[in-house]
Amino acid sequence: MNSSQARVGTLVRMAWDIAGRNVLVTGGNSGIGLATATDLARRGAAVTITSRDAGRGAAAADKISREASAQVDMITLDLAEPDSVRDAASDYLAGYDRLDVLVNNAGGIFGSRAVTPTGDEMTLATNHLGPFALTQFLMPGLLAAGSSRVINVASSGHGFARDGIRFDDISFESKYSMAAAYGQSKLANILHARELDRRYRSRGVHAYAVHPGLVRTRIGRDGDSLFTVLYWGLRTPWLLTPEEGSDTIVWLATAEEPPEPHGGYFEKREEARSTRKARDDREAERLWEFSEARIAAWYG
Ligand SMILES: NC(=O)c1ccc[n+]([C@@H]2O[C@H](COP(=O)([O-])OP(=O)(O)OC[C@H]3O[C@@H](n4cnc5c(N)ncnc54)[C@H](OP(=O)(O)O)[C@@H]3O)[C@@H](O)[C@H]2O)c1
Repeated sequence: MNSSQARVGTLVRMAWDIAGRNVLVTGGNSGIGLATATDLARRGAAVTITSRDAGRGAAAADKISREASAQVDMITLDLAEPDSVRDAASDYLAGYDRLDVLVNNAGGIFGSRAVTPTGDEMTLATNHLGPFALTQFLMPGLLAAGSSRVINVASSGHGFARDGIRFDDISFESKYSMAAAYGQSKLANILHARELDRRYRSRGVHAYAVHPGLVRTRIGRDGDSLFTVLYWGLRTPWLLTPEEGSDTIVWLATAEEPPEPHGGYFEKREEARSTRKARDDREAERLWEFSEARIAAWYG
């Protein structure tokens, strides 16, 4: 074995180079996901994006393909729909036998409380339960890669859930607020990465969460609240471009060695400040168990 090789389990792989790696970016048709997918495709990765809408997704895949001079695939995925999540994972694994980098980027923010047909609050279903299920369905591909990375696009907005996951009323049957539900789902992204890394790192799967900064994208723009309009309107001059927002995600995906701390939460290519609950291993384990039970009910 020469110095550019590393032994991973029984596999011998070359040092990490994103060129030729298989990458899946959820929500790669817009905003931060589009910028991430474009950058990684330019670097030679075999990129697949997802969109809820086949037409929107195909148009974005074409755009990335032209800009990066690379083939880009697209699959449809609605994270709030259990069948769509399962089908998207099996579509991906039918085309690719391994997945080197999964970017759980897609997400939303909801001005009014909504509940999915499975009875889950919409923000938690879209931003956490769907990505949790997708990651588990894709696990055979992540393990087959020998060394792989899962990057959850979280947010400093997890601070809106300073007291942690509301296990006694996780669906906000009382006192729904857009910020609290979004904050809880983004805290869940951080805890998911932490627990995923703890459970799977010894088998080569490394997981991270990222705050991309405040970025000028479509998110929150369709909101029906005055708060959303004012929040984004007043901040517009200071917002990052989607390319700037994708920087730490791309860095985590391309760094030659998996950055430390493993399972950590990053901003601007460094470990970022997070709330006490976001660093709580028991909270992470409890959320994992809750999520597993919800997913079992989805497909039961
Ligand atoms: N912008 C910011 O300042 C900021 C700050 C912190 C964190 N973030 C996080 O960054 C991530 C990307 O957001 P963005 O700012 O780039 O917003 P965006 O431009 O609105 O992109 C969101 C993406 O998520 C997809 N999506 C929404 N609901 C979905 C669902 N139910 N199933 C599957 N895909 C769905 C959208 O696809 P469709 O075309 O199907 O709608 C779109 O591609 C989110 O997780 C967000 O929480 C953003």
